[in-house]
Amino acid sequence: MPMLEVRKLSVRYGPLEAVRGIDFVVDEGQIVALIGSNGAGKSTTLKALMGLVPIASGQVLMQGHEIGAEPAASRVALGLALSPEGRRLFGRMTVLDNLLVGAHTVHRRADIEQSLKEVYDLFPRVHERRGQLAGSLSGGEQQMVAIGRALMARPRLLLLDEPSLGIAPKIVTEIAAAISRLNRDVGMSIILVEQNARLALKLAHHAYALEHGEIVRTGRGDELLADPFVRKAYLGV
Ligand SMILES: Nc1ncnc2c1ncn2[C@@H]1O[C@H](COP(=O)(O)OP(=O)(O)OP(=O)(O)O)[C@@H](O)[C@H]1O
Ligand SMILES: [Mg+2]
Repeated sequence: MPMLEVRKLSVRYGPLEAVRGIDFVVDEGQIVALIGSNGAGKSTTLKALMGLVPIASGQVLMQGHEIGAEPAASRVALGLALSPEGRRLFGRMTVLDNLLVGAHTVHRRADIEQSLKEVYDLFPRVHERRGQLAGSLSGGEQQMVAIGRALMARPRLLLLDEPSLGIAPKIVTEIAAAISRLNRDVGMSIILVEQNARLALKLAHHAYALEHGEIVRTGRGDELLADPFVRKAYLGV
């Protein structure tokens, strides 16, 4: 049974159909990339999975259970967590307090301590900066905190919206390594949304390209990296 199965998902903003009946699957332990240009519907898809925007039609099945009508908090409890586009940290709170916000659905103190340890282990810079105000961190460090905050919910499926956006190449490499490590070492299932298609396709087992709310290509990451349509449309080669 897949970790996540999306069937004929549509999302509307008034008259605009931002996501148009898409189907996709995330198998357990996979990194699945969603690539596409501005306005393709990538963030809307993640928000719909998370319950932050309502679904117009279709189904979202998490390990076979339909969750499309569940509120966001229940979906977190069921194992979904989102690191949103633009990071959305509380700039005037410390790094540690931002991380703890991500753990609000976790009740056992020992679990929270264990998650903190895992986040600090994954991102030693976040550990170094734990007492600092989040707003005083560099963009790359803030991105690490945003991913860490999502991990504090102890997800089974982690949703990452544009983790490389506006970040220096050296830090992008660090973040990419952390994403791979999470997947490889603890088998975390991940949906990776990226405009940086090259990065996403290198990391992903499977990928989907979205255009105007529809899936226009799908395949293994390495297949899409070699696909002439994808190369022309998203890789600029
Ligand atoms: N809250 C909203 N109200 C109305 N329209 C919206 C809203 N959010 C997004 N849209 C529209 O829905 C479409 C898809 O937007 P979405 O943010 O999902 O795209 P995206 O693929 O994430 O783009 P980007 O790469 O720029 O982040 C766009 O046309 C956008 O203008
Ligand atoms: Mg987006």
